[in-house]
Amino acid sequence: MGYKIVVVGATGNVGREMLNILAEREFPVDEIAVLASRRSLGSEVSFGERTLKIKDLATFDFTGWDIALFAVGSEATKEYAPKAAKTGCVVIDNSSLYRYDPDVPLVVPEVNADAVMGYTKKNIIANPNCSTAQMVVALKPLHDRAKIKRVVVSTYQSVSGSGKEGMDELWDQTKSIYNPVTEVPPKKYPKQIAFNVIPHIDVFMEDGSTKEEWKMVVETKKIVDPSIKVTATCVRVPVFVGHAESINIEFEEFLDEDEARDILREAPGIMVVDKREDGGYITPVECVGDFATFISRIRQDSTIDNGLNLWCVSDNLRKGAALNAVQIAEVLGQKALKKG
Ligand SMILES: NC(=O)c1ccc[n+]([C@@H]2O[C@H](COP(=O)([O-])OP(=O)(O)OC[C@H]3O[C@@H](n4cnc5c(N)ncnc54)[C@H](OP(=O)(O)O)[C@@H]3O)[C@@H](O)[C@H]2O)c1
Repeated sequence: MGYKIVVVGATGNVGREMLNILAEREFPVDEIAVLASRRSLGSEVSFGERTLKIKDLATFDFTGWDIALFAVGSEATKEYAPKAAKTGCVVIDNSSLYRYDPDVPLVVPEVNADAVMGYTKKNIIANPNCSTAQMVVALKPLHDRAKIKRVVVSTYQSVSGSGKEGMDELWDQTKSIYNPVTEVPPKKYPKQIAFNVIPHIDVFMEDGSTKEEWKMVVETKKIVDPSIKVTATCVRVPVFVGHAESINIEFEEFLDEDEARDILREAPGIMVVDKREDGGYITPVECVGDFATFISRIRQDSTIDNGLNLWCVSDNLRKGAALNAVQIAEVLGQKALKKG
């Protein structure tokens, strides 16, 4: 016996990936509904071998459905997630709306799977920001061994992290630079993204950091350990899919780079590719479509007492969003919504 699943935002980057992953991981689905805005009414999406017709979120009744995987942005989530949760359907949300709510668990199954059980307060579970998700998968096993004091992270984030519009802007701008008949001025991004990098994701905060950077700080504390200090610089780069991060970690205890490599090799969700030779590391184009968080360039930072540097790459639409949401649904099935 399986579950009745709703995918909300099924025409979007994350929604389509959630359908792929549910099919790839053979999630036990008895019935599935795919929702988007009225604009997409009647359009079709693939689910394994099947083709499904999009229904309108605004008129959908969630009563009797087990789990709703939301990927529609904060505004629509604010309106519809509480309605879905009220009917008894458990919402797993990709937006940032509920991440910092103390009554909503923020879950990365490799790190804090047990936190899922906190869903009962609101019937909602939050998925973290894409940059946080891959970073905490890497941090947790190292933190368990040598206790992390401080993390300095710089991100290289792909345009799919800002939805379909971001991908279209990079594509159209790139074409217009080669063929300058039509100019494509920045619209989704504050500056040209093609052949450029932009050190600005989400809005600016009072202290000069951006909201994306703030999210990495706050979410790491909520998921892994409130004592970990994080400072982040988040940068948008002209890559379609796959986020990369340069992570510098300061530990309380000394951790040798070889031991760190062994720990990461054994850790769930991680693939270590770390050869000190040409191409002996992973880049974003190689992680696309994969489930793993890839770790490369593991090396001691000899400028501090207990320091380590590493390079972390993952498919932001998968571990950063859709895969993590489906993994949460799997944990929920094992721990709470048992069937058959
Ligand atoms: N992309 C990532 O790496 C990533 C990572 C983590 C979290 N997230 C979060 O996941 C969510 C979706 O992101 P995305 O990248 O998939 O965006 P996207 O590609 O732009 O897709 C947005 C989806 O939401 C639907 N939608 C928007 N407004 C709606 C409304 N009022 N009613 C019903 N449906 C509505 C769209 O339907 P139509 O096609 O009908 O407009 C579409 O299916 C966002 O909250 C984002 O912050 C994304």
